[in-house]
Amino acid sequence: MPSYKKHIFICENRRPDGSPKGCCFDKGGPELKNALKVKLAQRGLNKTFRANSAGCLNACEHGAAMVIYPEGVWYGGVSLDDLDEIIERSILQDDKIDRLLIKEQS
Ligand code: FES
Repeated sequence: MPSYKKHIFICENRRPDGSPKGCCFDKGGPELKNALKVKLAQRGLNKTFRANSAGCLNACEHGAAMVIYPEGVWYGGVSLDDLDEIIERSILQDDKIDRLLIKEQS
């Protein structure tokens, strides 16, 4: 079994249409997970860092949501444009990106 330095869990949960909290599926969660997997693989980082699909992370109103472990850094409102910075700052380093932090859980 591979040993990863970090796991990045990206919510792909889909709630019923009209759910007041919204859901990460509708906010691009699946596309984020797929793009992060591709980016990690392209850089040869996928043996060290693992991007995982996640069910609801209970941060639906902050979607698209992800959490990076072992640090337990929670990001919300993540878009495809944020992924390179997340890789550079929060995956390769242990830096946090303030604008993406979910404050209640950080
Ligand atoms: S639907 Fe993504 S955190 Fe709940």
